Amino acid sequence: MTRLTTFADAEATAARAAVEIARGIELARDQRGVAHLALSGGSTPKRTYELLVDALADWDGVEIWFADERCVGPEDEESNYRMAAETLLRPAKIDRARIHRMIGELGPEEGALRYADELREHACDPSPSAPTAYAPPVLDLIALGIGPDGHVASLFPGAPTLDAGERAICLGVTNSPKPPPERITLSLAVLRVARRCLLLATGAGKADAIAAALAEPTKHVPASLLVRERLTVIVDDAASPPPGLG
Ligand code: 6PG
Repeated sequence: MTRLTTFADAEATAARAAVEIARGIELARDQRGVAHLALSGGSTPKRTYELLVDALADWDGVEIWFADERCVGPEDEESNYRMAAETLLRPAKIDRARIHRMIGELGPEEGALRYADELREHACDPSPSAPTAYAPPVLDLIALGIGPDGHVASLFPGAPTLDAGERAICLGVTNSPKPPPERITLSLAVLRVARRCLLLATGAGKADAIAAALAEPTKHVPASLLVRERLTVIVDDAASPPPGLG
């Protein structure tokens, strides 16, 4: 069942999101000694990342990934990495060796290929009983924003990326309706195999998208394709869905 929590305003929403992410990290570290956390860009998660800095006593064992990235350099003002570095990674003094940046400046296709290799190397855990079988990268927690059109990461409504299949790990995007057009994104398969996805939204402009995300699954609303049993939705009152959804 999807966990839906609503708060009075954006600050309270961000505070709860930070607590949820910290709890997810601690659970993963306790259970497996490592926590794989993927971050999204955009404006919504900024305050959550700022509050997350002090939400953990230490950041040992936390591997930082990205849900998507624009095909720009790390210092570009459009870079999701730059936003995360300014709000969380540098203030929390996270070891650079455990930060896995999507190399946006390589472009969509090469950047996606390289990131898939990085995920295979660090986040895939083949089953001992079938060591040669395909093992998808399983992230412990993916923090997602949502667009007014219901996109998550850089998976957009009706995009061919949604049909990339169960073994797709990371994909290039060349025609994002949200600028800039060229991006790298985790696949829907990776979002769906994650132990938990955290969907954050604030403001009336996201209310329809959140309602659609909790309604019937459809490729017209990529957020609706997330696995409901492993989805936590944290919204403010303005973005909250009508009663009975979720
Ligand atoms: C990106 C984000 C994107 C974002 C949503 C919401 O690279 O743009 O990863 O998926 O999370 O578009 O963006 P806002 O939080 O700015 O509304």
